Amino acid sequence: MQSHGIHTAELPRSLLLERLRWRIAILLLSFAATVFGLLAPYAQKLFTDDLIAGRPAQLWIFAAFFCLLAYHALWQLNTWVATREGLISQKALGDSAFKRVLEGPGGMVGRAPAGVAVSLFAVDIPGATALLDQSLLMFSSLVFPVLLAPIVLHVLFGIPWWASIGSLGLLGLVNYLLARRQSRFFMAFKQLAAERTGLVSEWVQNIRTLRILGWVNACEQRIFALRKRETRNRKKMVTNGQVMNAIASSATFTLNLLAVMLLLEIRKRAGGNGTEPTPGELLALLWILGVFLSRPLRQLPWMLVMTFDGLSSLRRLGDAFGIPISRPSLSARAGASRAGAAASDKTLALEISGLNLESDGKPLLRDIDLSLRTGSLTAVVGEVGSGKSLLLQSLIGGTGARFDRYSLNGEAANGPLDPKVRGQIAFVPQEGFTISATLRENVLFTYLDGAPSAADEMVAHSLAMSQFLPSAERVTHGLDSEIGERGVNLSGGQRQRVGLARSHFANRQVVLLDDCLSAVDVDTERRLIDELILGSWKGRTVMIATHRLAILPYCDEIIFLKEGAIEIRGRLPDLLARSSAFVEFVRKEQDAGGPPAP
Ligand SMILES: Nc1ncnc2c1ncn2[C@@H]1O[C@H](COP(=O)(O)OP(=O)(O)O)[C@@H](O)[C@H]1O
Ligand SMILES: [Mg+2]
Repeated sequence: MQSHGIHTAELPRSLLLERLRWRIAILLLSFAATVFGLLAPYAQKLFTDDLIAGRPAQLWIFAAFFCLLAYHALWQLNTWVATREGLISQKALGDSAFKRVLEGPGGMVGRAPAGVAVSLFAVDIPGATALLDQSLLMFSSLVFPVLLAPIVLHVLFGIPWWASIGSLGLLGLVNYLLARRQSRFFMAFKQLAAERTGLVSEWVQNIRTLRILGWVNACEQRIFALRKRETRNRKKMVTNGQVMNAIASSATFTLNLLAVMLLLEIRKRAGGNGTEPTPGELLALLWILGVFLSRPLRQLPWMLVMTFDGLSSLRRLGDAFGIPISRPSLSARAGASRAGAAASDKTLALEISGLNLESDGKPLLRDIDLSLRTGSLTAVVGEVGSGKSLLLQSLIGGTGARFDRYSLNGEAANGPLDPKVRGQIAFVPQEGFTISATLRENVLFTYLDGAPSAADEMVAHSLAMSQFLPSAERVTHGLDSEIGERGVNLSGGQRQRVGLARSHFANRQVVLLDDCLSAVDVDTERRLIDELILGSWKGRTVMIATHRLAILPYCDEIIFLKEGAIEIRGRLPDLLARSSAFVEFVRKEQDAGGPPAP
């Protein structure tokens, strides 16, 4: 991990400074290419002068040829090095981003919804690494000619400093201003596209719900409005880009004009006391100004745009990666469950008040307060659609619900997405889910540092606790079995148990289970309750949404939800005694799924 992972807080620095030797190699190769590029016209000058004077000149033409060859070869080599560096960084960044996505609760990077996370992968990672394979390369192929040309012009041709530096500076300034403007449009372009992707993916994922609730039009209109903003931005971006192109491609013309003016100037001075320039010198001057400098100056605006763009991508990645995620470490695990139990039952693990969630004006969760004591077991029950899943998802920041107060372990936090909270809570979704990878990777998920064999033991233990014994399931290669899309397709109950094993392995103090025993059989449910929830997780703060009754007798508190609000809360006997609605609910569930355990 230390060696190849990009470290979160210092992302910008590590992207540019890791493999520093190769970054310097890019600069040195550019420098060498530039020197050969400038030696070529000098050899050409000597050739022309010797030829006109009737001296043997073959050597010089070969020297010129060689210099040009070296210039192009070094340039190609440098492109190769830079491209390789770009790809290596892309892989390191991609790996880090992937881990962030897996580790972040709700499958998100930072505060970002799905679309923004997608754009981090699709746009910002290549954007940031373009700093290496494009910007750095272009910059070095541009900065050395631009720096060296005035020196060569001065030393070899006696051209005054102010003339060359002044004209290059002016060109640079104009390009800089245009490029800044362009990069702002680029940035808006990326943000708007990410927002739209997010909206579209939400829309696609929820299309059934949206149709049932009659929100399809509203949603489409939001996408359309965003599309309009994108189009306006794109128009400005294209116009500005055309102006930039026009100015950049006129660089050749400007430079030739400059060359002619300088020639006139030299000639004027030669009329006084200097010497006339030789034809070789004239040729070299035209080559340097008209040819050698014209490519870098045509590239200048795009180099700047790309740099600004890369920097903004880097900043976005830095923001997303800057949120700390607590990862389990091998040494910390051993004592963790005891520590959890020891943290006396007076402390509150999770306390929230004023949880409200609405969607387009319709309230989905209303004024919910919770105080979960450390080590307590809480059930959330209610009819299908009463808001159990939304409540649990809200607690990990998966819905955008508002909170008056959100505090974890007595520390006030700025909602569930607060860096203090993120990664502290394990969540098992109702359907359970798997990635297309091995069983081991599906449980590990959090990419433990080092000691894979010790991790294997823990993975097997977590699976056993979750009643998933590879030998008894249809997976034939133990922890190495490929599952998910490209491997064995697990049943709903198997997926739920892998999800449980994952959160057991993740070893977090607060565990939220969304109806994740729904697809397992009664015997397995019994064992999960005894061995996992009441056994291994004793001392953890567990909250389980369920429509099954078996766990209710063991709960410190049962929260009965109705239409997104708490109807009544308490222990099982209280509720049975006090609420006819709850009794009615229990009776219905009993009819559907057998009697509650004693
Ligand atoms: N993403 C969503 N946007 C709007 N409404 C939703 C969304 N998800 C669920 N709902 C609605 O919120 C209510 C509660 O849903 P949910 O929490 O899934 O219920 P439960 O888990 O208790 O069965 C339902 O009426 C459902 O249609
Ligand atoms: Mg649900």
